[in-house]
Amino acid sequence: MSDTTLRITDRLSDPADARTTGERKMDWARAHMPILEAITERFEREEPLAGEHVGMAMHVEAKTAVLVETLAAGGATVDITGCNPLSTHDDVSAAVDAIEGVQSFAKRGVDDDEYYEAIDAVVRSEPTITIDDGADLIFRIHREYPELIEDIRGGCEETTTGVHRLRAMADDDALAYPVYAVNDTPMKRLFDNVHGTGESSLASIAMTTNLSWAGKRVVVAGFGYCGKGVARKAAGQNASVIVTEVDPRRALEAHMEGYDVLPMREAAAEGEVFITTTGNRDVITESDFEVMQDGVVLANAGHFDVEIDLEALRERAVAERDVRDGIREYELPDGRRLNVLAEGRLVNLAAPVSLGHPVEVMDQSFGVQAVCTEALATAETVPEAGVHPVPDELDHEVAATKLEAEGIAHDSLTEVQEAYMNSWDHGT
Ligand SMILES: NC(=O)c1ccc[n+]([C@@H]2O[C@H](COP(=O)([O-])OP(=O)(O)OC[C@H]3O[C@@H](n4cnc5c(N)ncnc54)[C@H](O)[C@@H]3O)[C@@H](O)[C@H]2O)c1
Repeated sequence: MSDTTLRITDRLSDPADARTTGERKMDWARAHMPILEAITERFEREEPLAGEHVGMAMHVEAKTAVLVETLAAGGATVDITGCNPLSTHDDVSAAVDAIEGVQSFAKRGVDDDEYYEAIDAVVRSEPTITIDDGADLIFRIHREYPELIEDIRGGCEETTTGVHRLRAMADDDALAYPVYAVNDTPMKRLFDNVHGTGESSLASIAMTTNLSWAGKRVVVAGFGYCGKGVARKAAGQNASVIVTEVDPRRALEAHMEGYDVLPMREAAAEGEVFITTTGNRDVITESDFEVMQDGVVLANAGHFDVEIDLEALRERAVAERDVRDGIREYELPDGRRLNVLAEGRLVNLAAPVSLGHPVEVMDQSFGVQAVCTEALATAETVPEAGVHPVPDELDHEVAATKLEAEGIAHDSLTEVQEAYMNSWDHGT
């Protein structure tokens, strides 16, 4: 397919109708995104992104669409596609494609080839700045289109798994331009990974299954930022939580928070709902399936669909069928049935009913994305190639914007306090 026919508008039977629905979803999201609203107003006046072409591979749904609007308001042209075959909302994709200066190649339910065709379409538009969620776009540019790198000022990465991949590339001297680790900023990780993943994963699982959390035995694999959020929110819904971990400090943290900590092999026999949040592969494997109870629910909230070994489950199963939208039941030879949600892809974005993170949380994450994009566009000299922390003053700026929008006042240091905190010559 040519790049033009890959555009969402040419792939829907009624693009105008889809656009209207998508725009309505965007209206709702925008009304709850005061940080992006404030940044958009400033961008319209200052146009700091004029002349830049932003290439994006993100979950294309309403909140992301508002970020695209903000970037376009700043003077950028934007090409966007999805970062997961199942997370795109086609109606929002159509609405994004209708924004002036923006093209969307994102479509829900694509296979691997179509997924990369759409990424390639974004790459071929020759971005000067990239925004990724999972690093597929950056990776593709480096592997297939290295000649484009000299015109790229830099990039931003949204998620833990993407930052891990980029650090591995940098360690191998394979990362050829600077990337801000947006994931690692406090304004992103402490809210998006913890509260966003916690709330939206539980909401998606509840809506997909129509089952209650109360009294359930829930196994959370990984007690990082996402795992802490999932565990806390599940406990808050009266589930009893088991945590599995490989890092002794985090296992201890989970224990001190009051959760049961067990190896997965033991947790597998006890759990009723399993949620993986590790960013790692083979977290739930064949030997775990062997001991699970009939009717368990398996869901993944980590970035890639590698945490639950679905290949082994498919091989082992004597029958499989869709029992509800977004739930595939696998029947084992002894009659036990295991239910996998959203094909093992991140459940809060890929389940049919999922809406992704709450809007307020994404306002923060995307506020950081917007100011980092601006920093790359306006820097006299961009940082050297590699993964860079987001400058702390930018993160503070986003926090201050949010507090102002919420009408929350807070204290500031007096001069004396500031001097005291910065001195070392005081004591008892
Ligand atoms: N679903 C979403 O919307 C969403 C949002 C943010 C991040 N993510 C993704 O979620 C994943 C986790 O992100 P994070 O920020 O919590 O990362 P993190 O590094 O803070 O936490 C991951 C935890 O998993 C543990 N772990 C690794 N292998 C394990 C194994 N085999 N068994 C048990 N524990 C194991 C690690 O020790 C670590 O404590 C990443 O893939 C990230 O990209 C998803």
